[in-house]
Amino acid sequence: MVLWKRLKGAVQTLRCRNKVKSMIKETIQDAINRQINRELHSAYLYTAMSAYFETLTLRGAAKYMRVQANEERAHAMKFFDYIVERGGTVKLTAIDAPPVKWESPLKVFEEAYKHEQKVTGWINDLVNLAIKEQDHATNNLLQWFVKEQVEEEANAAEIVEKIKMLGPEGHAFLWLDHELGKRE
Ligand code: FEO
Repeated sequence: MVLWKRLKGAVQTLRCRNKVKSMIKETIQDAINRQINRELHSAYLYTAMSAYFETLTLRGAAKYMRVQANEERAHAMKFFDYIVERGGTVKLTAIDAPPVKWESPLKVFEEAYKHEQKVTGWINDLVNLAIKEQDHATNNLLQWFVKEQVEEEANAAEIVEKIKMLGPEGHAFLWLDHELGKRE
């Protein structure tokens, strides 16, 4: 009898979970899964940039990019947790390989800036989809990313401008490298 009650309880729990599964539309789930891949690719890209700076012994810039890569992984996991919370299915796909080398530190940060602009576009597309699907919960989650992208773009743009002002070589650039290394 006790076993039967337990079984009934387990079946009910499964039914509840199945109900939760219907809380996220497939169009939204697919779009968020694509964004998880893009965030993980961003982490991969910034990790490659960190490795490149290590080869130049620019340890500050290398650390800056390592911290950035960790942030991107956290972004991916924020989307991951959201899908799980809504009873959806996380689908991980292959991540494109990033480059190994860049022409100069300036080119690295210019690419980082362009990349963040692209990410902003993808986040905006997701917001548009959430509005179209009348998915207020997803739209609410995305507003965090909208704000985050303003900061991400501003940070990259500021470093590009500083490198241009200081020039890529000499003591002035080493000072910037030291400043970048302070990022936690
Ligand atoms: Fe997760 Fe830098 O965008």
